[in-house]
Amino acid sequence: MIDGAVVAMIVIVAGVSGSGKTTVGGLLSACLGWPFVDSDSLHSRSNIEKMASGVPLTDEDREPWLAAIAAWIDARRACGAPGVVACSALKRKYRAALLDGRPSVRMVFLLIDPDVAASRLAARPGHFFSAELLNSQFAALEPPSADEPGVMPVPVRDRPNDTVDEIMGGLGIGSRDDRPGPTAASGPTTCGRT
Ligand SMILES: Nc1ncnc2c1ncn2[C@@H]1O[C@H](COP(=O)(O)OP(=O)(O)OP(=O)(O)O)[C@@H](O)[C@H]1O
Ligand SMILES: [Mg+2]
Repeated sequence: MIDGAVVAMIVIVAGVSGSGKTTVGGLLSACLGWPFVDSDSLHSRSNIEKMASGVPLTDEDREPWLAAIAAWIDARRACGAPGVVACSALKRKYRAALLDGRPSVRMVFLLIDPDVAASRLAARPGHFFSAELLNSQFAALEPPSADEPGVMPVPVRDRPNDTVDEIMGGLGIGSRDDRPGPTAASGPTTCGRT
């Protein structure tokens, strides 16, 4: 509590392509009943066109995107509302841009082996898998260090719900009790509080 108001948490789910940001972030949001934004939807038209033509984004390109994510987060914070955001945040400076000065924002960084990410992406329906793009993600990746404030590294699990459990346990939010049945934690469906 600060000044009598409950401080609501915003959780950023980060990691390379294929680590499960969208899947795990969406499940977490459904389990908690918190709004979810996938930061892919916050890119400018010019960034989208650049990415679609296979041109990598520069740090300069990413600035307005990070600002848009920060604005979404700050709008939630301004009304004391929680939320979940999916955002790659591969570099420490991107993570700092979202976390610094925002103590109610926590980041979970999904850790995944490159081969596992590749096999997930190759099997992902409706998306073209580019090994080159995935390699560029791992080349850009600055894994979070143990002392990075506000960042909790989470090794990915085989089942998305197990990763969600790990996140909720680590952050001390929600619980298995919120789930509708004893087997739901490992099943493919979301829990009941949607
Ligand atoms: N245990 C798991 N956790 C999360 N996703 C999984 C898991 N096992 C398989 N998948 C699948 O992996 C694929 C990649 O997941 P997802 O799209 O959520 O990754 P992402 O990090 O959002 O990637 P991108 O950065 O490209 O958007 C999806 O098809 C998802 O269903
Ligand atoms: Mg995604």
